[in-house]
Amino acid sequence: MPKDLTKLESHFAFGHNWSDYADKILDDQIIEAKNALHRLLGDETLAGKRFLDIGCGSGLHSLAALQLGAAEVVAMDLDPESVNTTERVLRRFAPAGASYRVIQRSVFDLNIADLGSFDVTYSWGVLHHTGNLYEALARAGAMTAPSGLFVFALYRKTWFCRFSRSRRFDDVNGFSSAAAVPIE
Ligand SMILES: C[S@@+](CC[C@H](N)C(=O)[O-])C[C@H]1O[C@@H](n2cnc3c(N)ncnc32)[C@H](O)[C@@H]1O
Repeated sequence: MPKDLTKLESHFAFGHNWSDYADKILDDQIIEAKNALHRLLGDETLAGKRFLDIGCGSGLHSLAALQLGAAEVVAMDLDPESVNTTERVLRRFAPAGASYRVIQRSVFDLNIADLGSFDVTYSWGVLHHTGNLYEALARAGAMTAPSGLFVFALYRKTWFCRFSRSRRFDDVNGFSSAAAVPIE
């Protein structure tokens, strides 16, 4: 029987890894996350923009977006432990009065009618974990407003994968493939 990819049971339980993250996060990590996001966005500013973080995990990237001036952040993750950690991280470190919401949701259950569209749709190291990469890319990309930016990073299999389950490469936060795609 095909797995229901919208269900938590069909995924690796990443959230558990982050359960005490909110208590351990360091200023340097926040600064590095902001710098990395800034590098990725290039000339784009987040000021006044709606930012969607798909598969928010620890919430660090959502936090970086808020600290870089995003008008509103929606952070979402399938895993309730990730949702919980992100809530705690944002409660603790988000700028006073920042507008954000953290929801438990699968990328396959996203829809614009419910959440609206986003100036920046962001998904770092997530979509290849969903069980259907191309459908996940389509669903995530569809959340991006016209003239918006769809930013995603994926792992790639390499020769070294024979020796370790995954290896992170390259210059952008160690990921093998990262893209910032302007949406027409
Ligand atoms: C490797 S972690 C990356 C977390 C975060 N983006 C980061 O860069 O630190 C992958 C995250 O994707 C989430 N995830 C996996 N499948 C998902 C799905 N179908 N919908 C939403 N989130 C999903 C996991 O729960 C996990 O938090």
